Amino acid sequence: MLATQAKKVWMDGNLVDAADAHIHVLSHTFHYGVGVFEGIRCYPTATGPAIFRLDEHVQRLLTSARLYKLPLPYDAGEIVSAIESAQNANGILPSYIRPIVYRGEASLGVKNLKGKVSLAVAVIPARKYLGEHSEDGVRAKISPFRKPHSDMIPTFAKADGNYINSYLAGVDAAQDGYEEAILLDQNGYLAEGTGENLFLVRDGTLYTPGLESDILLGITRDSVMEIARDLGIPVVPKLLSVNELLTADEVFFTGTYAEIAPVSEVSHYAVGNGKPGPVTRKVMEVFYRVIAGREPKYARWLHLVPGAERTAPIPTPRRTASKGAAA
Ligand SMILES: Cc1ncc(COP(=O)(O)O)c(C=O)c1O
Repeated sequence: MLATQAKKVWMDGNLVDAADAHIHVLSHTFHYGVGVFEGIRCYPTATGPAIFRLDEHVQRLLTSARLYKLPLPYDAGEIVSAIESAQNANGILPSYIRPIVYRGEASLGVKNLKGKVSLAVAVIPARKYLGEHSEDGVRAKISPFRKPHSDMIPTFAKADGNYINSYLAGVDAAQDGYEEAILLDQNGYLAEGTGENLFLVRDGTLYTPGLESDILLGITRDSVMEIARDLGIPVVPKLLSVNELLTADEVFFTGTYAEIAPVSEVSHYAVGNGKPGPVTRKVMEVFYRVIAGREPKYARWLHLVPGAERTAPIPTPRRTASKGAAA
């Protein structure tokens, strides 16, 4: 159980025992899904625990809260401190950090602009969203559930309620034996996974759905685009069709929880030879060195946690997608 893996949860300034980290059963967020959150990873590095792109996650949390009219009584600096304090109180590494903004008091009126807005930060051991072997490739199903249009709900926000859609698509794919779903947008173009962005490779160029497909603008997506461009790989965000997906040379997902997961099969169509392709492997190699603190060029993406043990374990080299992957 998650509650037993976490020791303490930061709740509005207090470090509460995880077993006591409750909210009211009549809370507005529980009933209507009006809350916003982030998923963030903290990695062991040679210079101590480091949170990946913390400032960008905090900025996205603030944007999500603004879109959902959840006036947070904390500024960016205070949220950073709350996250550092939750990470230190739990000492879990590598960890998955989950800050969440919510209205936790009893209130069943839907149009609730007055209820107290709270922040909680939980820390649990990091896992791979698409399975511990997802770096070798995952099978994905084109989902019958489409992404809601941003005219319906602001899909750019990482909001609790948006994940009802991810839940339905993900469960449908899982019940059909797939690791993940690929959702299309309202116009039938590719959008994203249930908790990841999507990339295709064709003739050495990287393509990814853009904002017009109502995706969440992933921080891993942004990182991968920058890494790829630095490697000399052209990156083109654009509208992408199912045809382009089924005929791509390589396909992969990116996300904080999933990290980088090559896609080996889409709805019974093999992608390439079913193994992670050369472009995917090249980008993965750099990405995994970045998060391990071994790429000085991207050191600015790692936020060292003050007060954390500097005796953190030296990271062991990660398993690469396949032998002979590009260095
Ligand atoms: C729907 C959705 N798309 C994309 C992503 C990837 O975003 P990020 O790389 O910032 O984790 C996530 C995860 O947060 C997500 O839930």
